[in-house]
Amino acid sequence: MLNDDLIIVKLGGSVITDKKSETPKLRTAVLRRLAKEIAASGKRTIIVHGAGSFGHPLAKKYKLNDGLIEESQKKGFALTQASVRRLNLKVIDVLQNAGISAISLPPGAILKCRGGKVAEFGAGAFDGYLRAGLVPVTFGDAVIDESKGFCICSGDLLVEKLACEFEPEKVIFAADVDGIFDRNPAERYAKLLREISVGKIGKIAGEKSRHTDVTGGMKGKIESIKRIVAKGTQAVVLNGNKKGRLLSALLGKETVCTKVEP
Ligand code: IPE
Repeated sequence: MLNDDLIIVKLGGSVITDKKSETPKLRTAVLRRLAKEIAASGKRTIIVHGAGSFGHPLAKKYKLNDGLIEESQKKGFALTQASVRRLNLKVIDVLQNAGISAISLPPGAILKCRGGKVAEFGAGAFDGYLRAGLVPVTFGDAVIDESKGFCICSGDLLVEKLACEFEPEKVIFAADVDGIFDRNPAERYAKLLREISVGKIGKIAGEKSRHTDVTGGMKGKIESIKRIVAKGTQAVVLNGNKKGRLLSALLGKETVCTKVEP
């Protein structure tokens, strides 16, 4: 198969930014380390990143996920797009400094949603850059929605669409928790699930994120993972705050994480 050496990596907004902050705040040191781990793996990747504090507070303030209801939201849409692009340029910079030939593919410019789901998708753009040996980088963004005016297209939704299109070897979610737990990880007896089959994942509810989050936190991620794994791709959820775990997962080595097997 064409892409069985390809890995899609999602860098969570809660890892690369301070998601608790109401103003945009990058976690530069963490981002630099993750970029180095991706570079050190030598793997062919598509990188997707979340918006964190560069996107969620604005998207929430202007109720962008409710669609276009009132005129004042247009300003919020424009502000949100500009803010996530500023984050994307910072991410691109850090990736390039780590030696990765990263190029930006902003969802707002190449795709449309319908009813909150990706409808038109610029897969050709990703394919072209991949074939040229470059590393496409895309991100959670404010986009046009054909049925409700506009909406938020999350990084997880993009990972799902890309996985469906490119059938990669695996997708890795670098989150701010060690993986998927049998209950809310904040609870005392919460147990990390090291390996789950696609059949079992349906029974895990997942918690809504603790922070300002318009796209559903772990709950939304689990829904995306179900659909990714159903197509035959392995999904890994790991803690991007812990040194070396992303690199190990990229290299297929054992590390603390949850593996969801197809
Ligand atoms: C959200 O993207 C995009 C906007 C709020 C504009 P994500 O849902 O992928 O971001 P994180 O990873 O949760 O921060």
